[in-house]
Amino acid sequence: MSLLITGGAGFIGSNFVHDWLATSDETLVNLDALTYAGNLGNLVDLRGDPRHVFVHGDVCDRALLDRLLNEHRPRAVLHFAAESHVDRSILGPGAFIKTNIEGTFTLLEATRQYWSGLQGDERSAFRFLHVSTDEVYGSLGPGAPAFTESHPFEPNSPYSASKAASDHLVRAWHHTYAMPVLTTNCSNNYGPYHFPEKLIPLMIVNALAGKPLPVYGDGMQVRDWLYVRDHCSAIRAVLAGGRIGETYNVGGWNEKPNIEIVHTVCALLDELRPHAEGSYKRLIRHVADRPGHDRRYAIDARKIERELGWRPAETFDSGIRKTVQWYLANAAWVTDVQSGSYRDWVAANYAAR
Ligand code: NAD
Ligand code: DAU
Repeated sequence: MSLLITGGAGFIGSNFVHDWLATSDETLVNLDALTYAGNLGNLVDLRGDPRHVFVHGDVCDRALLDRLLNEHRPRAVLHFAAESHVDRSILGPGAFIKTNIEGTFTLLEATRQYWSGLQGDERSAFRFLHVSTDEVYGSLGPGAPAFTESHPFEPNSPYSASKAASDHLVRAWHHTYAMPVLTTNCSNNYGPYHFPEKLIPLMIVNALAGKPLPVYGDGMQVRDWLYVRDHCSAIRAVLAGGRIGETYNVGGWNEKPNIEIVHTVCALLDELRPHAEGSYKRLIRHVADRPGHDRRYAIDARKIERELGWRPAETFDSGIRKTVQWYLANAAWVTDVQSGSYRDWVAANYAAR
């Protein structure tokens, strides 16, 4: 038995690989294009483990997908691969259209052909699980109820529009071809192996380097934070027991404004790695806002709790402490990911702010 996963060298995908192989001997075939966000350093401890088969390739490559599906005959496809950073989608949307829309389409078509050839139990047990985001729902007003699965799609950035398009494709492949699909729409993740272009790891690595901590606008935008291994356990629960054709919202009931997140990171670093010049908060700088910045996301996770009994294991306090400790203990990983192309990105996004 095996699973085909895409994007398993990225932040959430690599955490999923570790999470899965900690409790299962089922092989994971991991297809990843190793873009700037993909990193085999996230999987280095699995070198030589026969349960992890890494394949360097693109989800837009139909011939490769056909070969992998026919060779490994997975019982499920788990689709994590995507361009995932909103700021990059603002500066260069093309890659988002290509990977998130065309890539999902290509994977759906290859999977449909493979699944159509399955018989009996193999066919009825097969699943296609699409990993998506709460950003497809758009932005909430201050007192509005959290996103449920029936909230209308109102994506506001090129990233969220491309993810919304991919969600629609997945839905249509179920409706039209009866493909056994499942979709998860999760809130903001944080934890180990998070590439330091996103808020939490950026604040940790900049603070440790004595660099400014750039807070967009007033810093009162609200996100709903979930520890990444809790997202992984939710995906496992949906794969095992989710109803075909359904979507499941995943979140930690943990809304916080960005500025509070930055203060928390600074306070933990003050405790764990105190600096002679005083609190890391001295590095906070309010900078020009993100264009079209969504003000608030919040997930109503009652459906996955009720139907599948899923609950997050971490509180925000326990998860953020583990995360800061992980970055302190993994300085070599941090140095490694801050390559030339990372420095180019920092210059492109922050120099004129
Ligand atoms: P990431 O950017 O860290 O990783 C993406 C991975 O996909 C990388 O390993 C990259 O090399 C790979 N990839 C990109 N284009 C590819 C292509 N054309 N073919 C094959 N591989 C390709 O992203 P992440 O934060 O780990 O997010 C994973 C998934 O979860 C995405 O679909 C994202 O939309 C979704 N998601 C992310 C969050 C979050 O907070 N990070 C929250 C909810 C949902
Ligand atoms: O909600 C789920 C989404 O969360 C995922 O679908 C995306 O893949 C993931 O990147 C994340 O999107 P966000 O845009 O919310 O995450 P990001 O870490 O980029 O930003 C979080 C908040 O912090 C957001 O309000 C913008 C703000 N921010 C971000 C950066 C990088 C800053 O204030 N300063 C920064 O330098």
